[in-house]
Amino acid sequence: MNVLVLGSGGREHALAWKLAQSKQLQNLYIAPGNAGTAHCGTNVAVEVNDFAGIKNLVWEKDINLVLVGPEDPLVKGIHDYFLSDEVLRDVPVIGPKMDGAQLEGSKDFSKQFMVRHGVPTARYASFTATNLEEGFAFLETLSPPYVLKADGLAGGKGVLILDDLAEAKTELKNMIMAAKFGSAGNTVVIEEFLKGIELSVFVLTDGKSYKLLPSAKDYKRIGVGDTGLNTGGMGAISPVPFADKAFLDKVEERIVKPTIAGLNKEGIDYRGFIFIGLMNCGGEPYVIEYNCRMGDPETEVVIPRIKSDLLDLLNGVATQTLHEKNYETTAETAATVVLVSGGYPGDYTKGKEVSGLNAAFDSVVFHSGTKAGTNGEVLTNGGRVFALTSFGNGIEEAVNKSFASAAKISYDGKYFRSDIGKDLMS
Ligand code: AMP
Ligand code: GLY
Repeated sequence: MNVLVLGSGGREHALAWKLAQSKQLQNLYIAPGNAGTAHCGTNVAVEVNDFAGIKNLVWEKDINLVLVGPEDPLVKGIHDYFLSDEVLRDVPVIGPKMDGAQLEGSKDFSKQFMVRHGVPTARYASFTATNLEEGFAFLETLSPPYVLKADGLAGGKGVLILDDLAEAKTELKNMIMAAKFGSAGNTVVIEEFLKGIELSVFVLTDGKSYKLLPSAKDYKRIGVGDTGLNTGGMGAISPVPFADKAFLDKVEERIVKPTIAGLNKEGIDYRGFIFIGLMNCGGEPYVIEYNCRMGDPETEVVIPRIKSDLLDLLNGVATQTLHEKNYETTAETAATVVLVSGGYPGDYTKGKEVSGLNAAFDSVVFHSGTKAGTNGEVLTNGGRVFALTSFGNGIEEAVNKSFASAAKISYDGKYFRSDIGKDLMS
């Protein structure tokens, strides 16, 4: 089979790395990819939202399956675009159509969906310019901290958590009336604050059956001890020790099954990954959010723990035969440590030359933001630069290998969190 992966981050490198191991694979293309994905297949300079460019590529390279990495093209309707095109119609796309992508594309939709299908989540209400005053009144019924969420995609920045009621009212007004997050904030979801520990579970579904993929915990803040600004993710661990079998059984019964059944009931033919962001509140799972794709850097620990052939599983999704497919995971722990550019998540410079990559042989080096220089050298090309994944018999062994690899790789401004996984070690 000829497969096209869309995206250019560590997530896409991990997916491409795994697909490249499949016996069913003939040619792998990554658009646009990075310096790391070039070792798994052929990078093609087409952007993920350039649907016409992707169509040409699929036609030219005789692509048999497309795996969409990021949410943006899904929410913009890449899957619908394929289905409405005579040439592309028969090429399966892994990733939901626009209707299913609303689980991530609209927080208001996803909250309503959870309520309709009895999926446990924080109590909430949604507000627009027409009922702003009611929004103020709703805030008064809650106790702090106050959680405000822009309805639409806001690049992971559309959530505000505020301790002060007056400030929450001001921010609500800013989001709705002053377009603080652009049109994404025309509607704002206000919800109850959930106190607990966060983790994520991942589901692969063909719309009928599903496979529950490994759980993961990521580290969102830039600083040691969960301090400083939010980032895309500074590291991840899988499995999550506090998500034991009893907890995961609750997740499956109360959340995964009703979610799949709900999609079916609403006539949403969902084929792809569902990323479920959860809060473990004293042993009870609540959904914080759905995403219509895999997480980054969670993919860099979840996918390497899958022993089965990923392309075989994706074929199962495409042909709705996922229930027949072999699915096995390793019991080993995987840890990933993300190396970033100095200054990230604020301003940073790109184009720094990287050395020492070959010395990091105890880890799988996934590239998150790199590009090849004119002489084949690797240059930094993003805020997150690498995700170093290692295996071990437990978190300590796995993450220490990643730290050792992190020490061997050099570029100007390198930074990583030195406490990934520490909170989970007993
Ligand atoms: P989201 O974009 O919905 O994942 O929200 C971003 C982050 O805000 C989450 O990863 C949580 O850390 C936090 N968060 C969102 N909703 C809540 C909530 N209801 N209670 C507590 N924390 C939340
Ligand atoms: N690591 C969080 C995300 O991918 O959204």
